[in-house]
Amino acid sequence: MNIERVSTEAQIETVAALAHEIWNQHFIPIIGKAQVDYMLEKFQSKKAISEQIENGYSYYLLKAGDEYVGYTGVCPKEDGLFLSKLYIRASQRGKGLGREAIEFLGELAGRKGLSKITLTVNKNNTDSIKAYEKLGFANLGVFVQDIGSGFVMDDYKMEKVVRRKELC
Ligand SMILES: CC(C)(COP(=O)(O)OP(=O)(O)OC[C@H]1O[C@@H](n2cnc3c(N)ncnc32)[C@H](O)[C@@H]1OP(=O)(O)O)[C@@H](O)C(=O)NCCC(=O)NCCS
Repeated sequence: MNIERVSTEAQIETVAALAHEIWNQHFIPIIGKAQVDYMLEKFQSKKAISEQIENGYSYYLLKAGDEYVGYTGVCPKEDGLFLSKLYIRASQRGKGLGREAIEFLGELAGRKGLSKITLTVNKNNTDSIKAYEKLGFANLGVFVQDIGSGFVMDDYKMEKVVRRKELC
């Protein structure tokens, strides 16, 4: 798998298109269409992604052969790397790509002198919780966030300890 750092408008457009496809496919049964539409507009529109990148987020496109198979988005938060987004297209799941992405992010965190990867995942996103547990994340318990317009993110907080590289 190739991992491309997102910087151009075309790459941001590709991320937004993947978000639209994957969130509609995966999250409607979990949070409903109204919340998917709201969250896509608020967090994964081209404008929202561009603003996040300006404010310290890094996005990466995941490519297998000629196909963009998913993306990830992270930002440093306290002593960890916050994994804000990791989404693989439905047809490409269960093939080890998520593991490869987490290994890449573990290296990235280590190089930044950070000691863990943290994330939040919807309580009812059962398959992804199982995958994260297999990938070495521990469940730290419930984490609820009000995201406006009557919606909440009803999540678990998870974290994985990574090896910090000695900084010289
Ligand atoms: C969660 C996700 C990123 C994992 O990526 P993936 O490419 O499917 O995962 P991998 O194939 O690398 O699997 C990683 C590990 O999890 C395990 N795993 C994956 N799906 C699983 C499932 N449904 N149940 C149990 N274990 C699972 C794999 O067996 C593997 O463990 P192993 O290497 O010890 O065998 C991906 O499935 C996804 O994008 N899901 C939908 C969107 C989503 O919910 N993203 C997370 C939002 S917080």
